Amino acid sequence: MNNSPIIALDFNSAEKTFEFLKLLDRSVNVKVGMELYYKEGPAMIARLKEEGYSIFLDLKLHDIPNTVKSAMRVLASLEVDMVNVHAAGGKTMMEAALEGLESGTLAGQKRPALIAVTQLTSTDERQVREEQLITVPLHESVEHYAKLAKSAHLDGVVCSVQEAKIIEKVCGKDFFKVTPGIRLASGDVHDQKRVATPAKAWQEGSTHIVVGRAITGAENPRDAYEKVNTLWKGITS
Ligand code: C5P
Repeated sequence: MNNSPIIALDFNSAEKTFEFLKLLDRSVNVKVGMELYYKEGPAMIARLKEEGYSIFLDLKLHDIPNTVKSAMRVLASLEVDMVNVHAAGGKTMMEAALEGLESGTLAGQKRPALIAVTQLTSTDERQVREEQLITVPLHESVEHYAKLAKSAHLDGVVCSVQEAKIIEKVCGKDFFKVTPGIRLASGDVHDQKRVATPAKAWQEGSTHIVVGRAITGAENPRDAYEKVNTLWKGITS
């Protein structure tokens, strides 16, 4: 998957998804999340692949290691480009996920990149302290999960832009920092708590940005995509 913005296809049907995709070029990267995948299943992935899209399948697996390993074996056979797990599932679970992906990747094909969710970008300090009973600040929890993911040989993490720099410092430049919570300066933040612009994401060391409602909810999605891409690529190239 190249480093163009990844568009979150948070739609509830294939029909709406392809209606939306008609507005954009086929070279865009897309993210299929739980809503769309649970509704349309592997057929949706096959169709997106046929049309040439690079796909991040964002199902955020979190279960016992053996179950995650078996599920990852199946996901690898869909030939997507990137998949993920929750780092909170632990190092053994992350290693099992990687093993499952490796064993499910067809001969001659590239294994999907595997990244771990550290803390969701909708999570704030209060939740970490009062609901997760984690006594260190949010950024330390994110840093810890990133190091754990790296020690399990994952390719990177999902994190907020605010944490990308510190992760670059502790896990290196090549370790993926996939950052959702991207908004154009004037945009609504919706339910996200840790948001940033595409330009800020680049400055802070994000390797990939995930953009949903700032594009899918825009009056003119093509213009919004171009705006996001220019702000991001204007600095990257
Ligand atoms: O619409 P918005 O740009 O907020 O969408 C962000 C997308 O990224 C959603 O599909 C959401 O599920 C996903 N995501 C996230 N935070 C994470 C991991 C994934 O917002 N930590």
